[in-house]
Amino acid sequence: MATTINVNGETRSVDLPDDVPLLWVLRDELNLTGTKFGCGVAACGACTVHIDGVAVRSCQTALSDVDGDVTTIEGLGTPESLHALQAAWFEHQVAQCGYCQSGQIMQAASLLAENPSPTDADIDDAMQGNLCRCGTYPRIRAAIHTAAKATRGA
Ligand code: FES
Ligand code: FES
Repeated sequence: MATTINVNGETRSVDLPDDVPLLWVLRDELNLTGTKFGCGVAACGACTVHIDGVAVRSCQTALSDVDGDVTTIEGLGTPESLHALQAAWFEHQVAQCGYCQSGQIMQAASLLAENPSPTDADIDDAMQGNLCRCGTYPRIRAAIHTAAKATRGA
């Protein structure tokens, strides 16, 4: 039976088993490949997307458990109108290999939505489940501070 979900502001219908992870719905069915597979067991954060603005691990979210609007990295900003975090990521040249970065940005966006002035400790706490094998953590932290300032208009 087809399931209807809202992804990046569009209503999408997918005909897949209820227990298919959202990650594979996004990547294989909807061709939204910005969301990455890393571990498949909610241990790396590469697959992070939002449901109603809250960061979730899409590798461990069954299609039948999607109970709100999904936002992926493709829906966070546009090339013409970057999200403050995406702009800050460019400014700080955060990405190295880039594989983890969409998950990092989605996790950071969820943090800033609930805490517009995070301290270093807040950032480290919120981002601890998002791993980066390239070790970009100092630039991630700096970019989050820059985006937070920009969002506050400072
Ligand atoms: S792939 Fe989902 S947390 Fe690693
Ligand atoms: S930039 Fe390479 S894993 Fe994070």
